[in-house]
Amino acid sequence: MRDLSLEFETEFGTAKVLDRVTFTIGEGEVFGLVGETGCGKTVTALTVLRLLPSNAKITTGNVKFLGEELLSKTDAEMERLRGTKISMVFQDPATSLNPVFSVGEQITRVVRTHEDVDKRAAETRAVELFKRVGLPDPETVLRSYPHELSGGMQQRVMISMALACRPKLLIADEPTTAVDVTIQAQILDLLMELQREFRLSVLLITHNLGIVAETCQRVGVMYAGALGEVAPTKDLFREPLHPYTQRLLKSLPRPDARGQPLASIPGSVPSLIDPPTGCRYHPRCEFAMKSCSTRRPALLEHSPGHRVACLLYEGVTE
Ligand SMILES: Nc1ncnc2c1ncn2[C@@H]1O[C@H](COP(=O)(O)OP(=O)(O)O)[C@@H](O)[C@H]1O
Ligand code: SF4
Ligand SMILES: [Mg+2]
Repeated sequence: MRDLSLEFETEFGTAKVLDRVTFTIGEGEVFGLVGETGCGKTVTALTVLRLLPSNAKITTGNVKFLGEELLSKTDAEMERLRGTKISMVFQDPATSLNPVFSVGEQITRVVRTHEDVDKRAAETRAVELFKRVGLPDPETVLRSYPHELSGGMQQRVMISMALACRPKLLIADEPTTAVDVTIQAQILDLLMELQREFRLSVLLITHNLGIVAETCQRVGVMYAGALGEVAPTKDLFREPLHPYTQRLLKSLPRPDARGQPLASIPGSVPSLIDPPTGCRYHPRCEFAMKSCSTRRPALLEHSPGHRVACLLYEGVTE
């Protein structure tokens, strides 16, 4: 994704949600996108999938996948890509599964949309997938309706559907937020196992830095629709450059701990209808200078692979 800016037309005005978002995900790499609720993580994912609501307008930038521009593809082309090359797992499995169809009908439909197989063969494939994602008694699951499964089982079904067509890129948007704490670790472990087995590239969206520390090779920290810092995970934890990232890490008791949500930071996330000028973080930044309210920092490379968008690193002193 390069320089992607996006607005929503709302009854209160135009919300300038994404501000020149730029990042890459390598083949077989797990990239974490982290930030507070409302900062634009899901919108970023929906942009890649081209599943944006109709009031969204992309104003700058582009999204390339395997060398091809996604934003200029037709809806039919995108439909083919979703589920074959790009799959997704959403936060809430209960609302992603269709309540009126059995799980088996749903997964065999996915399989048969992309593979020329009969119903029987699709069911066999579904059972294999259910086994692979650790669902007990796959034949019974196949005949079940979503409400008959626990949240953890529903999420495993979603994951098996996402994998059904061997995607290259898996987008997982807060995949463990809606399930029980005890199940969260199992789901994450499963995702990471599958990632290695299928050499998936993963965009892992989370508001949880502990999850990032454990699973992601690289990470982007988003604040109010703008990326403040992009770095290899170990560099981000060792030497956070952006004041917002520093703040986030300082308030974590154990950066490697699982289950750590983002700690709160004084002030509140700004309205994106009228976002702060200059650096979007300036009203909350302890290092804010005069220029910060007028000059927009660029996401620049500070050391190999470590980018930061902050005027402190552009030699600005006042
Ligand atoms: N359909 C929409 N219309 C208007 N604003 C939206 C719409 N969808 C999301 N937004 C706004 O975009 C911003 C980013 O939302 P989102 O990407 O869902 O945040 P996150 O996933 O980081 O919690 C929020 O301010 C949200 O209110
Ligand atoms: S640009 Fe200014 S306000 Fe923004 S993070 Fe850097 S110092 Fe803080
Ligand atoms: Mg979200």
